[in-house]
Amino acid sequence: MPRIELPPLTSGPVRLRPPTEADVAAIAAACQDPDIQRFTRVPSPYTAANAREFVHFCRDTLQRGTGVHLLAVDTDDEVLGAVGLGIDLADFSGELGYWVAPHARRRGVARRGCRLLLELAFGPLQLGFVGLHAAASNQASNGLARALGFTLEGTLREAMIDGPSGDRSAPRCDANVWGLRPHEYSPA
Ligand SMILES: CC(C)(COP(=O)(O)OP(=O)(O)OC[C@H]1O[C@@H](n2cnc3c(N)ncnc32)[C@H](O)[C@@H]1OP(=O)(O)O)[C@@H](O)C(=O)NCCC(=O)NCCS
Repeated sequence: MPRIELPPLTSGPVRLRPPTEADVAAIAAACQDPDIQRFTRVPSPYTAANAREFVHFCRDTLQRGTGVHLLAVDTDDEVLGAVGLGIDLADFSGELGYWVAPHARRRGVARRGCRLLLELAFGPLQLGFVGLHAAASNQASNGLARALGFTLEGTLREAMIDGPSGDRSAPRCDANVWGLRPHEYSPA
């Protein structure tokens, strides 16, 4: 797939845009959060170099058409979180991921950001399926998946660790697999 051209992506006070070098400090600060380290695949410990790699990864995947990974910012361009859609070009499906900085949680940032990505996924990108994986113990992520209209497709037993990426001492936990198809998605 050629480079993905992004339309304006704004919902209420939340705007999605690609990260730049200027966002490195804000991304690195947010990713110190224990829940982001526990439930996402961000490196741990998380450094400014990791944030810089993330900025390049976002640019590369957009360029190759293999992903839309964007920051959610407020009306002052402050970083609130990140939402991402990995794209599998072999079967035109996507995988959703997200984190929101602790101070910005429970204000609809993830819901708005994910909806903008789903509209892109099922609209211009014409994907036939979007999935997401969440640790069964991750109440916020499972709650968000349900709120977005995803169906719980099943549970992969002990498929994940419940802890920072690469921590062999972390306990294993079940992974909930959620799925959404274009005809199941109701735009807000
Ligand atoms: C999951 C996460 C991104 C949610 O972000 P958020 O911006 O706070 O979520 P929203 O405010 O958009 O919530 C939308 C809906 O999701 C559900 N939800 C969000 N947080 C929840 C929580 N702590 N418990 C239960 N349901 C929750 C609710 O249904 C909520 O709607 P409501 O507020 O009207 O009840 C955030 O908690 C986070 O960054 N967690 C750590 C990282 C993470 O777990 N990433 C996902 C890995 S799979």
